[in-house]
Amino acid sequence: MAERRWAILSLSLIVMVLAVIVFTGIHWASMPPSGIEPIDPTRLHVSGEFIEQNLGVQIRADGSVIVHLIGQQYSFNPQCIVLPVDTNVTFRGTSADAVHGFLVTGTNANAMLVPGYITTFTTRFSQTGEHLMPCHEFCGTGHAAMWANIRIVPRAEFDRFRSEHPGARCD
Ligand code: CUA
Repeated sequence: MAERRWAILSLSLIVMVLAVIVFTGIHWASMPPSGIEPIDPTRLHVSGEFIEQNLGVQIRADGSVIVHLIGQQYSFNPQCIVLPVDTNVTFRGTSADAVHGFLVTGTNANAMLVPGYITTFTTRFSQTGEHLMPCHEFCGTGHAAMWANIRIVPRAEFDRFRSEHPGARCD
């Protein structure tokens, strides 16, 4: 009888854990970890997709946007970007030194920036507004002062802003 009770108990634990995974995945739209793409952190500014003029927001052929950003002790580059609402946004980021993280407050955008690797994920922002984007991995003495700003605006306003500000940067 005791064995049977343990079997039921352990089975229900498994079912509970699976239910939590399904719930967070579907209800909170949490994202699985991204694939592994290596990059040389000492050459970010020299060549490749993370050179200075490529940082910020670019528009892709299908109208979606792509954001390139770098985390470094103790700031993000760019410090402030403008993004369109209801548009697929792909973030591509990496770190120039320590492990950093970033999240866009009030949204499901949340990732780590690891030196030597490119982090990439795609999300959509369904409401306009201002968001803080703090670093959420302890990265040294200046960690608490490391954050950026993101402004979500209507598409027409975004297109206008970007035509005047390369990379849609507001820093
Ligand atoms: Cu960068 Cu904490």
